Amino acid sequence: MDIVLNDPNNGYYGSGKANLGINGDFVTSPSLTGDFSYFLSIQIEEWLEQIKNSTKFKGDFNIIEFGSGKGCLIKGIIHYFFINNKKILKDISFKIIELNPGMKIMQKNNLEEFLNYGVDISWIKLEDFEDKSINGIIIANEVLDAFPVERIQYFQGNLYQQNVSFNEKIGELFLSKNNLDENLKRKINYLRNQFGINIPPEDAPEGWTTELHVHQSEWLKQIYKKLKLGILLIIDYAIESKKYYSSQKYDGTLLAYKNQKAINDFLFSPGDCDLTCHICSDILIEKAKDIGFGFNGIVKQGEALLLLGLAEKLYDIQNSYQKDISKALLKREALLRLVDPLCLGDFKWFVFDVAEKDFKFKSKCIN
Ligand SMILES: C[S@@+](CC[C@H](N)C(=O)[O-])C[C@H]1O[C@@H](n2cnc3c(N)ncnc32)[C@H](O)[C@@H]1O
Repeated sequence: MDIVLNDPNNGYYGSGKANLGINGDFVTSPSLTGDFSYFLSIQIEEWLEQIKNSTKFKGDFNIIEFGSGKGCLIKGIIHYFFINNKKILKDISFKIIELNPGMKIMQKNNLEEFLNYGVDISWIKLEDFEDKSINGIIIANEVLDAFPVERIQYFQGNLYQQNVSFNEKIGELFLSKNNLDENLKRKINYLRNQFGINIPPEDAPEGWTTELHVHQSEWLKQIYKKLKLGILLIIDYAIESKKYYSSQKYDGTLLAYKNQKAINDFLFSPGDCDLTCHICSDILIEKAKDIGFGFNGIVKQGEALLLLGLAEKLYDIQNSYQKDISKALLKREALLRLVDPLCLGDFKWFVFDVAEKDFKFKSKCIN
């Protein structure tokens, strides 16, 4: 998964050939419509005001985005503050933490206008921040689902690590298996002891397969180390452990995406497709709490956006686009897709915080 996505020469993201958006391989909320960034910015503004009023706050804000894709979200956030709150804009430093050089080029091109205008935007590594130096908001929209996972398979009473091998004769990839190493055994035991999750579940059928998110904890730890005061917002497809590790989920959640279609055979055309794996919601929450984050809440994207004013915008379309029906229809469709429970509306927003003792962040997006 790491090679297929992140190899600098041939990886889907690493080489910069990722095709996000309505005419691409898959659509993310910010690449669908600027309205997503608009509503999220309303929430960010509320959080920034609270940070500003904290006694712990000295200096400037950071708005940091992990894995910016084409850079649509950060562009939309800058645009929001440019129009609605220029006063706060001059105190914000925008930072992108992007793993893949190919995507950085795409982001720089997309943000050129604001860069030329002198908005403080830079590309940085998390390690470059001093410990406990970040005041502000850290966002990861559809990034954790791109972290490489380990696939675990159950056969004849034993668990195996699934591998990808290459058949040189026919020039094809195929799935093979290895015994579990000590590290994976430890992770499986940790899930059993800490969360009561059995891998495999008692009634697992032969060949049952699942995924382990082996990079999440370290990522959360590194962020916690750097965040002094503020919010970590993670947005992703997520399901509860009861479902995630049930015998019914026979083949895990790893999928490839190409031309707006999900493909079960994730070995299909490696490097030309996106690969994505669902997040396990309760494990993510418990891991973050364990590390020290406060948990502000979890909300479905559809509900969050409605609480931030999406319904009003929908009603307003008719007035705003009176002379252009086709534009009005497109706008309406994009807004509805953002909240559609069968589509992007089912994404989960996880809101974690680091704050002063006895202080609880208020979040408009959570009821
Ligand atoms: C599915 S895209 C999401 C893009 C964007 N957030 C959006 O919503 O449109 C995943 C992005 O995360 C980046 N990425 C993957 N792993 C990463 C990591 N460990 N750190 C930073 N960026 C990463 C990819 O290069 C890509 O830009």
